Amino acid sequence: MATKDTTKLPIDDLTAAQAKAELKRLAAEIADHDKRYYQDDAPTVSDAAYDALRTRSSAIEERFPELVTKDSPSLKIGAAPSGRFAKVQHAMPMLSLGNAFSDEDVADFVDRVRRFLRLPDNDMPAIVAEPKIDGLSLSLRYEKGELVRGATRGDGTIGEDVTANVRTISDIPHKLKGRDVPAVCEIRGEVYILGKDFIGFNKRAEKAGIQMAANPRNFAAGSLRQKDASITASRPLKFFAYSWGEMSEMPHDTQSGMLKWIAKAGLVTNPLTKLCKTIEQVLAFYAEIGAGRAKLGYDIDGVVYKLDRLDWQQRLGFAGRNPRWAIAHKFAAEQAMTVLNDIEIQVGRTGALTPVARLAPVTVGGVVVSNATLHNEDYIRAVGNDGNPIRDGVDIRIGDTVVVQRAGDVIPQIVSVVLDKRPKDAKPYKFPQKCPVCGSHAVREEGEAVRRCTGALVCPAQAVERLKHFVSRNAFDIDGLGDKQVQEFYEAGIIMSAADIFTLEKRDARAQKKLEDREGYGEVSIRNLFAAIDARRKIELHRLIYALGIRHVGEGNAKLLARHYGTLDAFVEAMRAAAKGQSADANTTEAYEDLNSIEGVGEVVADAVVEFFAEPRNIKALDDLLEEIEVLAAERAAKDSPVSGKTVVFTGSLEQMTREEAKAMAERLGAKVSGSVSKKTDLVVAGPGAGSKLKDAQKHGVQVLSEDDWFKLIGKA
Ligand code: IVH
Repeated sequence: MATKDTTKLPIDDLTAAQAKAELKRLAAEIADHDKRYYQDDAPTVSDAAYDALRTRSSAIEERFPELVTKDSPSLKIGAAPSGRFAKVQHAMPMLSLGNAFSDEDVADFVDRVRRFLRLPDNDMPAIVAEPKIDGLSLSLRYEKGELVRGATRGDGTIGEDVTANVRTISDIPHKLKGRDVPAVCEIRGEVYILGKDFIGFNKRAEKAGIQMAANPRNFAAGSLRQKDASITASRPLKFFAYSWGEMSEMPHDTQSGMLKWIAKAGLVTNPLTKLCKTIEQVLAFYAEIGAGRAKLGYDIDGVVYKLDRLDWQQRLGFAGRNPRWAIAHKFAAEQAMTVLNDIEIQVGRTGALTPVARLAPVTVGGVVVSNATLHNEDYIRAVGNDGNPIRDGVDIRIGDTVVVQRAGDVIPQIVSVVLDKRPKDAKPYKFPQKCPVCGSHAVREEGEAVRRCTGALVCPAQAVERLKHFVSRNAFDIDGLGDKQVQEFYEAGIIMSAADIFTLEKRDARAQKKLEDREGYGEVSIRNLFAAIDARRKIELHRLIYALGIRHVGEGNAKLLARHYGTLDAFVEAMRAAAKGQSADANTTEAYEDLNSIEGVGEVVADAVVEFFAEPRNIKALDDLLEEIEVLAAERAAKDSPVSGKTVVFTGSLEQMTREEAKAMAERLGAKVSGSVSKKTDLVVAGPGAGSKLKDAQKHGVQVLSEDDWFKLIGKA
């Protein structure tokens, strides 16, 4: 049976099956022409006929989007380009530009130029202002008018040879126009892509399930750096020329003259370029270009000012990698409007709950934005950290139309809410009071904007960091179990909780895959690890308290708590009792009062400890741990010693005791030992050679004792 020739059929009349066959045929034909054109340099059809094939293929895909495949000519994508292009040394380096962000920066630039050239104050040098194209720079070398090489910027000195790809860009002539073209001409400029072409590609890529491009600039760069030039050819890349490298002769002596010459030679220069005679004209150009930016059809990220006279450019030269005769005046952040679809709460490694805006995707300055940071619950409620209203007091609600802003590489932000578009049923956002990851209650400390998960020991979002803290030097200090091993064992599901550390050996004995068989370990190292863990089955109370990772409970506070309560049982019992009295306003339990009355333990610390014990999940994790270890009783601090509750600093070389002994002794007597002298210090014990701390003591009028005085005071002389 003869198959019907579908090649001439109008696209609207094609059945799906016919369309599929037709797309396949077109893809093969296009690939064939690509090979003849790029590899054999022997095309057999006219450009118009070739374009017609591509147009038909794209039009069929438009009608039958489900037929777009990874092999579609409109999508051809090669392996990621890297290190596969020949290196090219630039005859003259390709440099970058310094930035100006304000009118003052621009005035400073002009002043610098004037001073350098010793121009009178009222003499304004003519300046060429050009849009700053957000693409990638390219150097084109023409010899005797023929394009011989195209090279990317690379590191500025050495770039990549992308000649074959450059030849596929229609804005770039293979031959320069005009009879008096210098023997060597290096034309430089920017490769870019139109926004509509970028969006079109991404739409097709999404349907076909292949990787979408992040922004037009990346897309242009990826398209240019393809090993298969036919892929570059399928991407509608464009090129604006704005400068030059090596030139065997200079056709003009001004920037503006050179641009005109480059255009006459057949390249495309930016039509918006303007020669400015006053600083007002320069700034007006910036404002005008900025205002029309969204309608340009391609991305620009500022305006470039260049001194018009080339002899002056020459005299000014370069400072580092930037010319002194040019500067880029960057645009401020870009904004776009979109809808807030949802607010999601992320839990950080330290338990901080951070709200993230899930937005209907929108292009902001060429980048598709679908998330924005919301900082914290106050920010959503429209109050700042100082309690003052922000965003005119307008809160953010799910369903709101919002204005999103992006500045450079920073995370996009929501800057305002369009109240007119607020849905009638939109309700104020209720910030969760529980951790979305582990379900523990989440609390906010007074004066703090961040709400935190209290499930320190159980929350998977925090687990690894907590475990690293648990084994750290001032906590359990287990030899051979450092950050790296904790991370590795956590990821392998071997150590997920503190108790798991102490059941490791037992579990390993039953396991099929032994720890000693893991890469990087052996029989000896694992035996040593088990021994190090065993050595810590008996632990001092203050180390355990510190290891729990309770917020604000550092080593010093852990010691104060240990000395105050003496035993773990007493401590836990008191904390559970205090936790029962926990409420939004005040905790009036005796246990809480007692905790709060410990010298050196303030309300912030007391609240954090109580929060920890108010969370049943933490109690359970602690109980699991206590099944495996024994906690030693602490020597209780004397409440009625002459130094209890005092802050003491030891300085100079002590002769009758070591610094550690002095510290332990003072702490046993209920004193807090500090390393520096302030007005809060009660006593400074100074040995011979005491220096700045002694001076500080005198400055603050703090009592200074000799070592002998100290022993007398504590009654041990
Ligand atoms: S002139 C020595 N002009 O911006 C100065 N650069 O940030 C050479 N760019 O690497 C650059 N538009 O890729 C110049 N009209 C323009 C430009 C421009 C975009 C890029 C170029 C350069 C970068 C510097």
